[in-house]
Amino acid sequence: MASRPDETGGQQISRRGFLGWVSGAGIVGSFAAGALSTYVFLKPRVTYGEPNKFLIGRPEDFPSGARMAIDTRRVCIVREGNKIAAISTTCTHLGCIVAPSPVGFACPCHGSHFDVDGNVTGGPAPKALAWYKVSLTPSGELEVDKDNEIQIGSYLTV
Ligand code: FES
Repeated sequence: MASRPDETGGQQISRRGFLGWVSGAGIVGSFAAGALSTYVFLKPRVTYGEPNKFLIGRPEDFPSGARMAIDTRRVCIVREGNKIAAISTTCTHLGCIVAPSPVGFACPCHGSHFDVDGNVTGGPAPKALAWYKVSLTPSGELEVDKDNEIQIGSYLTV
């Protein structure tokens, strides 16, 4: 870069040198801005919700006859003797959370009713409540997999 001494003895940058420096800074800046905007564009913009596979406790936490709704997970854990199942509590009409009732499940939104297995017995719900796979982990805990729908009436035997 060309520079020459000024009256005070300091270095004065030439006009050509100054313009060269500004041009270089502009080029570097535009590359940096391009790289940043490419990174922002390519970075996935997703939010990860609750995992669909989760532990619910040990079999002894659910006594025979239990029908325990876990609203945060939208499942109801049902135990009949030594059989355990996880039934969805998401209404198949418009997605409200159904509540266990003495005869099965009832939806508070538009009045759909389901029997104890989740089959529709009344109201606008178009299909039965889903059943999810339940398995026993090596540590002895029950694990529900909401990505794995199973046939209605398929219990895990513990
Ligand atoms: S959402 Fe359950 S009946 Fe409409």
